[in-house]
Amino acid sequence: MINFAHRGASGNFPENTLLAFEKAINIKVSGIELDVHKTKDNRLVVIHDEDIERTFYGKGLVKDFTLEELKKFKCRKELFRDNEKCKIPTLEEVLDLTRKADLILNIEIKTDNIHYKGIEKDVIDLINRYSLRNRVILSSFNHETIQICKKIDKDVATGMLYDEPIENVVEYAKRIKVNAIHPSKDLVSKELIEEAHKNNILVNIYTVNEIDDMKRLKEYNANGLFTDYPEILKEIF
Ligand code: G3P
Repeated sequence: MINFAHRGASGNFPENTLLAFEKAINIKVSGIELDVHKTKDNRLVVIHDEDIERTFYGKGLVKDFTLEELKKFKCRKELFRDNEKCKIPTLEEVLDLTRKADLILNIEIKTDNIHYKGIEKDVIDLINRYSLRNRVILSSFNHETIQICKKIDKDVATGMLYDEPIENVVEYAKRIKVNAIHPSKDLVSKELIEEAHKNNILVNIYTVNEIDDMKRLKEYNANGLFTDYPEILKEIF
């Protein structure tokens, strides 16, 4: 089962920062999950929300700032405020850090609210430039984004995120030709995982922070869990 550090080791360190990713690598996780948006000057940056306000001292949308402007914002977690590794990283910086580690990278393309022009191709070009294509899963809540990824590269691994029940979800996943479903943990049953597996579809589940859930979902044969506490998941298995 893949232990995906969700936004890095984000339970104890500022999410989606080089520090959180470095901490995840240090504990030898088998996967890292991160979120990608595009800046005003068309650069891929790693941050969860469209707006920087929740995680950084500042206000405004990622798409309205240049990379240089974004780099000036300090992280909101007081202890890490002046830590250089806690600025908004580019996807390239994260790939530079993670490329040598033996892990799967789940890149969530954040087109849920804003569909950044060409983001799918930009991400795929970059992972090819880093020769990381075979170690990457591209996921999104926006299933059109997943289909665009498949059009660009039919063999790239994809994960379909969802947080509301979808009728006949395995059939739907097959129809849109994803490799994995990525449901919220409350939408998962043993039967769902069995049905997905029978149809050659993997099941990676988010966000699993409770030990009881980790144990239960491992017993159900989940393929991967996204957790803010990868060190705990590692310790119990
Ligand atoms: O990719 C798994 C998980 O990160 C999806 O939810 O809201 O954290 O992007 P969210």
